Amino acid sequence: MNKNEIIAALNPDSDPADLYALADKVRREQVGDGVHLRGLIEFSNYCRRRCYYCGIRAGNAKVRRYRLSPAQILDCARTAVRLKYQTVVMQSGEDPHYGPRELAAVVEKVKTETGLAITLSVGEYSAEEYRLLRAAGADRFLLRFETSDRRLFSMLKPDSDYDRRFACLARLKDAGFQVGSGVMAGLPGQSLESMADDILLFKKLDLDMVGIGPFIASPETPMAGADCGTLDAALRMVALTRIVTKNTHIPATTAMGTLDPRGRQKALGCGANVLMPNISPMENRADYSLYPGKICTGEQPEQCAGCVDAMLASLGRQRAEGFGHSLKRA
Ligand code: SAM
Ligand code: FES
Repeated sequence: MNKNEIIAALNPDSDPADLYALADKVRREQVGDGVHLRGLIEFSNYCRRRCYYCGIRAGNAKVRRYRLSPAQILDCARTAVRLKYQTVVMQSGEDPHYGPRELAAVVEKVKTETGLAITLSVGEYSAEEYRLLRAAGADRFLLRFETSDRRLFSMLKPDSDYDRRFACLARLKDAGFQVGSGVMAGLPGQSLESMADDILLFKKLDLDMVGIGPFIASPETPMAGADCGTLDAALRMVALTRIVTKNTHIPATTAMGTLDPRGRQKALGCGANVLMPNISPMENRADYSLYPGKICTGEQPEQCAGCVDAMLASLGRQRAEGFGHSLKRA
């Protein structure tokens, strides 16, 4: 698809039925009917950065901060094993307390004890630090570039840098990670053209995984009260990303389920092939408050597992076999 075709398909006035049907067909041919479950551990909500959209940004005094100990993280990983998930995703703010050295020690423990595939989502570090994390046993890394629009990026991430974000993605690839990136859909000021650029960039970067979620305005941030993104925009992006990038792993994201109780089911029907059930301790979930109304904050990990299995059954899908590593380099 060329850029003009992508822009036309992103237009909210066009009927997305054919687009979704094509994306579903490409998904079936390229990655099959299996859905990979990745257990999400939100291990710290401390963050040194001040991204305008993010509810756990530094300086938000309304957030009750928490940080799981290495033993608690290991316990979450044991829960993943019990629930027969094959991957854990360890995500946090950019917490200086959990620098690469401390994190590498935890990764090594989780890997040695459980043998699970490990995905990290912990932000921007040097090439050497990424290599350290990879050597400790982390297999994959998620780092969204958030938007391909340079001007919008610098407005939203005042203490980050557009070029450095992409340099980090290159470093991750060099370090041997399977690399995921992604964006928010429906950011204030985001044009259809820039969303088309996002999708073309996913392809150009040859990503292994692409995560897309609607922007949801968070109180106590500079973007409080802004218009949120729509599920429609996020689904169109998922569908187009599937068609353009073919065999990437694409999650039906929590933010989609937050905007619409059937948001994740809809994403699985138009290109997505991954779900990330939450396995963080119950008492901390509500405090990982990137945006309001986040789903699954009152459920035990077992309940989330039951919920996703029921969701898959209702869609005629099933859990995928194996670790669900990248299909790009297979
Ligand atoms: N700190 C790491 C980083 O920035 O890459 C990882 C954690 S960060 C909280 C994970 C993702 O949450 C971000 O990449 C962003 O896309 C998403 N996010 C943050 N605030 C959001 C909001 N208000 N609405 C939707 N998604 C949001
Ligand atoms: Fe923490 Fe953006 S606010 S990385």
